[in-house]
Amino acid sequence: MGHVDRCFAREPRHQHVVIMNSQELDNLTTENQQLKQQLTELKQQLMTAQKMSSVGELASSITHEFNNILTTVINYAKLGMRHRTDEMRDKAFDKILAAGQRASKITTGMLSYARSRGDRREPMQIKQLVDDILVLVEKDLHVHRIECRVDVQGDPYAEVNASQVQQVLLNLIINARQAMEPGGVLTVGIVEDSEQQMAEISVQDTGSGIPAETLPHIFEKFYSTKSVDGQGQGGTGLGLALCKDVIESHRGRIRVETAIGHGTRFTIKLPLVAKPSFRRDSNSEVPAQRAG
Ligand SMILES: Nc1ncnc2c1ncn2[C@@H]1O[C@H](COP(=O)(O)OP(=O)(O)OP(=O)(O)O)[C@@H](O)[C@H]1O
Ligand SMILES: [Mg+2]
Repeated sequence: MGHVDRCFAREPRHQHVVIMNSQELDNLTTENQQLKQQLTELKQQLMTAQKMSSVGELASSITHEFNNILTTVINYAKLGMRHRTDEMRDKAFDKILAAGQRASKITTGMLSYARSRGDRREPMQIKQLVDDILVLVEKDLHVHRIECRVDVQGDPYAEVNASQVQQVLLNLIINARQAMEPGGVLTVGIVEDSEQQMAEISVQDTGSGIPAETLPHIFEKFYSTKSVDGQGQGGTGLGLALCKDVIESHRGRIRVETAIGHGTRFTIKLPLVAKPSFRRDSNSEVPAQRAG
């Protein structure tokens, strides 16, 4: 018999000793690698599924918004055709242009959210990331009569995977909206903390708050207190678990403060990076890379 590598694997409960030869050990190593690969792929798929479910939450309000935009375009086009004065035509063109620009902002937000960049990270302007997401949720908040405020201090940049961080923001904003009654206020804060070298984004609501017995579980996978609604949709309990994974993989932190009956604030912190340098075009300065 040739050389035999011995490997002892103890099965903790029964205290069995397993003896393996080198071939068996190789097989086990290969199997282990395959399982790790499968796990990575499954995590990626779960992330995509969660992303689709959070944007699905907004699908109806975004479709309505596009309908409103089209109605504006059609009505002002008709008005411009009927009234041949310069004044009326200018007004019609202005309205059509504004409606078109609004539609383009929404599709830009959607594309930036939907774009998958694998794990690629680059320096991003936090304000731009937040703006692209707010364009998507604006209508949904309006439908639920939630006021949205944005409070910006400084102009932080962080090295992030834009689409993943936007998924985090969308999850936090949807949670916040679901916790509030009509008349609530959502505040998104951005702070450049140069002392701690952190970019800070907070999502604060004036909703129900989180009970003490629930609080320790909210970042656990599949933990949800949301019951199934009329369309058969409840919470999957994956939103915050995903937020935590994404932020920690970015070497950041996520923290929650809450008060029953007053509301909840989630704060994420990401390491600051320098603003990307500007390259000089023929006669204008444009950023080397754009968020999105
Ligand atoms: N802003 C908030 N206010 C009050 N409770 C919250 C807030 N955010 C999260 N929670 C609580 O944390 C739980 C877990 O949140 P998470 O986003 O992980 O799952 P979910 O929202 O229930 O489901 P999903 O995100 O899949 O729709 C929620 O069910 C809710 O009880
Ligand atoms: Mg959620």
